[in-house]
Amino acid sequence: MRRPYGLEGLPHQVTVYEVGPRDGLQNEAAVVPVEAKAEFVARLAGAGHKVIETTSFVHPKWVPQLADAEELLARVERRPGVRYPVLVPNERGLDRALALEVDEIAVFASATETFAAKNLNRSLETQFDMFEPVVARALAAGVRVRAYVSMCFADPWEGPTPIPQVVEVGERLLGLGCHELSLGDTIGVATPGHVTALIEAFGSPDRLAVHFHDTYGQALGNTLAALQAGVTTVDASTGGIGGCPYAESATGNLATEDLVWMLDGLGVETGLDLGKLVETSTWLARLLGRPSPSRVVQALSKG
Ligand code: HMG
Ligand code: MG
Repeated sequence: MRRPYGLEGLPHQVTVYEVGPRDGLQNEAAVVPVEAKAEFVARLAGAGHKVIETTSFVHPKWVPQLADAEELLARVERRPGVRYPVLVPNERGLDRALALEVDEIAVFASATETFAAKNLNRSLETQFDMFEPVVARALAAGVRVRAYVSMCFADPWEGPTPIPQVVEVGERLLGLGCHELSLGDTIGVATPGHVTALIEAFGSPDRLAVHFHDTYGQALGNTLAALQAGVTTVDASTGGIGGCPYAESATGNLATEDLVWMLDGLGVETGLDLGKLVETSTWLARLLGRPSPSRVVQALSKG
């Protein structure tokens, strides 16, 4: 048992929003059997996760790995006290999700023109025509809606993303009634000062979450900056797997185990059992046929 050493200005508790089954798996070329996906989700709940982003109701041709969304949700045993949000881009996706009685969805917008076209086949402006009816109908049906903004720091085609552009897209999404806005560093290029500046530009961190990919090894440093700026929800992916099929330079997310190692050391509560998380990542690494990129998983699975 490590003795925690705290730091000034950190929250006592952090919600880890687990994206492994969705962001983690969506980039895997070999299709993972639906039984294994259901086991993955069950293991995550068993490790103490309270929010597990389970799958996507996107076009199956766009993300073939998640084409089994219906079958998976039907298999997942939804535990009381655990949320199982799913990604939904449009009304067709919402219809599919509502048929499975989901109680939380996530819409995903782009902060840049090029990624809106590549990921959603829409422009920066017309992406909202797609989201508005989704959010309105979901809220009317009693379904909570999270929103993502991608490419918040830079975009591989357009370079650095101006902060006011991110804030404008984000505030429009919050204005639709989304309860949370996750700021995505899709290609993992952010650095801590940039994170602080973006969060401060929103005026309040209250409804913000952060979503860091670890391409340049900055995800933990960026997370610490976000926590010090008042954010209390952090997205992470089991074992650091993942990426976005429509942004080639995107690698895996911040690994859940790396995050929990840091937060345990700081004495910040997550309710997560690091040993069980590592067991799950080692199980998953065997299934995917390659070691987890997480340093903590590598260190703790050696013994
Ligand atoms: P589109 O081609 O413009 O779709 O794609 P459309 O509205 O023109 O419809 C064309 C046909 O697709 C129609 O069928 C629709 O019914 C069908 P038809 O009438 O011709 O027979 N269709 C669907 N079928 C099933 N489910 C659906 C659906 N929608 C339409 N939901 C669309 C637009 C948004 C659908 C497409 O671009 C898409 O699926 N994109 C998703 C891409 C994706 O999943 N990317 C990865 C997730 S985002 C991410 O990873 C970033 C994040 O992690 C944060 C970060 O890191 O920054 C969240
Ligand atoms: Mg992502």
